[in-house]
Amino acid sequence: MGKNTEKMDYPRLVTELPGPAAKAVLAKDNRFISPSYTRSYPLVIKKGQGVVVTDIDGNRFLDFTSGIAVCNTGHSHPKVVEAITDQAHKFLHMSGTDFYYSAQSELAEKLVSLAPENDDWRVFYSNSGAESVEAALKLVRYHTRRTRIISFFGAFHGRTMGAMSLSASKSIHEKGFAPLVPGITHVPYAYCYRCPYNLKYPACNAYCVDWIRDNLFKRAMPPEEVAAVFVEPIQGEGGYVIPPKRFHTKLKQLCEDFGILYVADEIQTGMGRTGKMFACEHFDIAPDIFTLAKGIASGLPLGAMLAKSEIMNWQPGSHASTFGGNPVSCRAALATIEVLENGLIENATTMGNYLKSSLNALAGQHRLIGDVRGIGLMVAIELVNDREKKTKAIEERNAAIFSAFKKGLLLLGCGENGIRFIPALTVSRADIDKAVSILDEALTEVEKG
Ligand SMILES: Cc1ncc(COP(=O)(O)O)c(C=O)c1O
Repeated sequence: MGKNTEKMDYPRLVTELPGPAAKAVLAKDNRFISPSYTRSYPLVIKKGQGVVVTDIDGNRFLDFTSGIAVCNTGHSHPKVVEAITDQAHKFLHMSGTDFYYSAQSELAEKLVSLAPENDDWRVFYSNSGAESVEAALKLVRYHTRRTRIISFFGAFHGRTMGAMSLSASKSIHEKGFAPLVPGITHVPYAYCYRCPYNLKYPACNAYCVDWIRDNLFKRAMPPEEVAAVFVEPIQGEGGYVIPPKRFHTKLKQLCEDFGILYVADEIQTGMGRTGKMFACEHFDIAPDIFTLAKGIASGLPLGAMLAKSEIMNWQPGSHASTFGGNPVSCRAALATIEVLENGLIENATTMGNYLKSSLNALAGQHRLIGDVRGIGLMVAIELVNDREKKTKAIEERNAAIFSAFKKGLLLLGCGENGIRFIPALTVSRADIDKAVSILDEALTEVEKG
């Protein structure tokens, strides 16, 4: 038992997994739900509170996924629930595309006050991450009247046609859907396996950005035709890849030199996840446009695309969405930001450092752990199969996540062989001790084979 965990009443497993009630849901799900979803284990949630998830059979789990980096304030935070309930009693929908209501403009004012550098931003609302990216893709073409776009190997921007075309983290996402949106070129990200100079951590000096300037722009891609670069400040689905600061500095300079817009996808990194409201702040970068979703409304569907005012110069009718900026979601977002600003962002830094040091200590005991990395509560380990850390332990990664589930800890993978740790920003030392001790048991089991 971890040093802080003596009084915890979770995780607590009372049936085999999946339990009988869960099995009934799984049977119906298997029959009626799209087979395109990617579930790693059979969790059927009934209730969530803070970092604790209770399943339909009464089993209690410690949640280190927060619904894929969404419930940053913890499951069903009372302040968020209160705002949602209050708004639900007033009105649920009136379409902000055609009418006005104060929650939309209040939230926009708040988001703009949090945006980096200048306060002359405007907000477009959507319902999801992919839709926010899609909106940014349309806007950069509209504003610049240029057609080409740069994005990165390892990137994930969503699954609609445009967002998918920008992505390059797993080819399965794109298989069967060609032709994709034309004009998008993928280039190496920092530490990329496609590094044009074959450099890896720690030798990486972000030469891949020089390569865009010195090779791509000279030989294949006229820079004056490039509308934008889409970039995740830290790659998420691609494997929690944290680039060196100079990667973003050089990239921003490149954009400025050629009048190219710098679009930061903060959908996974934003809303306090990394210990700052937006991850760009770690790199001292002020993007021209940035996209948000996931943690913005603690679980209600909402996305936002923020652009500097002179850039968001499209005409009425250019872009809109019936549900985007729904009043209930906007109220949930306002409450979310209030809660985040009330100590949770600092907690992400403190607990993130504690989590990383605990995982580093665990790495000394497990041959499978090849790397521990992260900023704030966006943390991952990489599982490898050899001392040189070259062979990715993909099956072992999947087995470790499944084993942790069987022991009451909810985790998710990232990249080919990573496990990510993205608990709510309310997480405590006791929760982290418990999670690390369960991971320890899971890895021991997998290592025994
Ligand atoms: C960086 C990033 N962008 C976009 C998306 C797509 O978001 P959504 O699933 O809400 O469409 C994701 C989802 O994981 C993401 O991590």
